Amino acid sequence: MAQSPPETILTTSWESPSNLAIVKYWGKREVQIPENASVSFTLSRAVTTTSVGITPHTGGGFKFCLGGREQPSFEPKIKSFLDLALPLLPHLHNFFLTIESRNSFPHSSGIASSASSMSALALCLVDLEGQLSGTATIDLPLASSLARLGSGSAARSVYGGWNLWGRMEEFPESSDNYAVPVPITPAPVFHDLHDDILIISSQSKRVSSSEGHRLMHHHPYRAGRLQQARKHALALMDYLEAGDVDAFIELAETEALSLHALMMSGTPGYTLLQPNTLEAINRVKTFRKESGLPLGFSLDAGPNLHLLYPDEQATPIKRWISEALLPLCEDQKIIEDQVGPGPARKTNKPNI
Ligand code: PMV
Repeated sequence: MAQSPPETILTTSWESPSNLAIVKYWGKREVQIPENASVSFTLSRAVTTTSVGITPHTGGGFKFCLGGREQPSFEPKIKSFLDLALPLLPHLHNFFLTIESRNSFPHSSGIASSASSMSALALCLVDLEGQLSGTATIDLPLASSLARLGSGSAARSVYGGWNLWGRMEEFPESSDNYAVPVPITPAPVFHDLHDDILIISSQSKRVSSSEGHRLMHHHPYRAGRLQQARKHALALMDYLEAGDVDAFIELAETEALSLHALMMSGTPGYTLLQPNTLEAINRVKTFRKESGLPLGFSLDAGPNLHLLYPDEQATPIKRWISEALLPLCEDQKIIEDQVGPGPARKTNKPNI
């Protein structure tokens, strides 16, 4: 008699947002241990939703679909991640994993999806491990440390609000292995801070973040950068707690420009900035000076400008952005986002 194929015995599904670092993680040691502590906030609309189903299968294995289609080009990254993560999840041995992922933002929107996708996948695995071992709660530090193994910045996406990743002796709860919620209470103005992302270019990066992290090993400004990042992480905690938006904007802009200055001054030097990134930066600075409104910017490892401003001043600032900055964007594209509440488990689906 023919045997029926083994059935998927458990499935879970998680939605996780991306995040934006204000104090940037730049430089790492093995395995994804940061050279400096970073501080970020979790977004709300730029999210990845991932489902994982497990089927008993000696020797394991996996299948990965993105946006409803198998994506062989992503398989090596998922495989390296699972090779590091599964040894930490003993109950998931000898299961075949069916992984299906979807991003809320288009693949070529210029938004890095590694933080949201690795965080969503890590949460699914920790959830399944918990269900198999009879644990009801989700171990978030474990999920954060697994997400870190997939992509460093993903460690900070397993929580909502403001998060710290990297050991700082001032904060005993901090760790290089996983992120924690910031050990202070941010003022209300930072609970719903806006982050509108100007899509200056959706082209994929010519130099990867991994290469950028590597260039920090022998960077001439390495020592100065480590000192600066530490000073900024401590100062940022004070500004968040005090609700000091002007000091926050100054720090966020210095961090963003320092990140790109480090890229330019490594060997070999490179830049990911585009002419329209610089034009937008100049316009933001002039607007802030002339209007007195609290609009600042940050940058990730790419040309797209993140515009940061409090909800209270959103109306006049949004009006100015669409008049003065929209024409600088590729296909007039801006992604409007905000600080968000973090990942959520979606209802278990019987089939994925
Ligand atoms: O997580 P990775 O290896 O892609 O590095 C991301 C680094 C930055 O986005 C530039 C900064 C950060 O802290 O997110």
